[in-house]
Amino acid sequence: MSIYPIILTQSRFLHRDQLHYPFEERGLQFGDGIYEVIRIYQGNYYLLEEHVDRLFRSAEAIKLKLPYTKTELKELLVELMSRNNMSTDGKVYLQATRGSAPRDHIFPKDVLPNIYAYVQDLPRNIDSLKNGVKTITQRDERWENCYIKSLNLLPNVLAKQTAKENGCYEAILHKNGTVTECSSSNVYMVKDGKIYTHPATNHILHGCVRMAIEKFANDLSIPFIEEAFSVEDIGLADELFLSSSTSEITPITQVDHTEVNNGKPGNITRQIQTAYEKDANIHSAIEA
Ligand SMILES: Cc1ncc(COP(=O)(O)O)c(C=O)c1O
Repeated sequence: MSIYPIILTQSRFLHRDQLHYPFEERGLQFGDGIYEVIRIYQGNYYLLEEHVDRLFRSAEAIKLKLPYTKTELKELLVELMSRNNMSTDGKVYLQATRGSAPRDHIFPKDVLPNIYAYVQDLPRNIDSLKNGVKTITQRDERWENCYIKSLNLLPNVLAKQTAKENGCYEAILHKNGTVTECSSSNVYMVKDGKIYTHPATNHILHGCVRMAIEKFANDLSIPFIEEAFSVEDIGLADELFLSSSTSEITPITQVDHTEVNNGKPGNITRQIQTAYEKDANIHSAIEA
């Protein structure tokens, strides 16, 4: 996955080799910052508006003042792609921290945020989209403010690593048996023709793809019910799927060694995948 050479820092474009990070940087020392990952298809951002809105919501939640308007940031991100002549499928990673200052828990005064963004290639994962993925359930050990897309990802990293060590793609997280989301995606259960997912509270990240799925479901007249389900309910699910900017809509075919829908992606999952591909103006992964 190659990273393109030109990166955005604050409001300037640099070659990535020119970026040097100081020792005392609040993102590095405290995880005191926020981030976004936005999907790119054929050199076009997908759901850009939604991601920029969420970045500003996260910034407000941690009392970080971004040095742009939303419009200015969108223009800079578009320029980042054009300066790199990017026309492939990929993603942009953008992070904003509270800046460089002598290490102290208290916010530093008169320090500007450190911001950088870079674009890189990311081909679609056709095999997972077509055939689905395996998952395991794990306790959700995260904090109470998961709606903030914060740089503090240690519980997510540990959960994902455990999934990987168990031959799985994702960890389905639960708080006392109530499913919240996955380590880096939202999760949905299909039962009796309806889609269930955890309400958009502080216990989950409000996924941009999740927002799009709600609209697709409405367009398809599939009830989209924001009601939490339990680990036990999973055993009775007709279908399960997950969503994120990098995983799109990925069918889940196994949870904790038990197959879902006989290990095959289900019909409603397929309809949502197709709606996503139409909306993003991309080819069908299933027919690929
Ligand atoms: C914990 C978590 N939940 C959900 C998502 C999905 O969010 P989005 O659809 O905006 O990519 C992500 C994406 O990184 C995530 O990290």
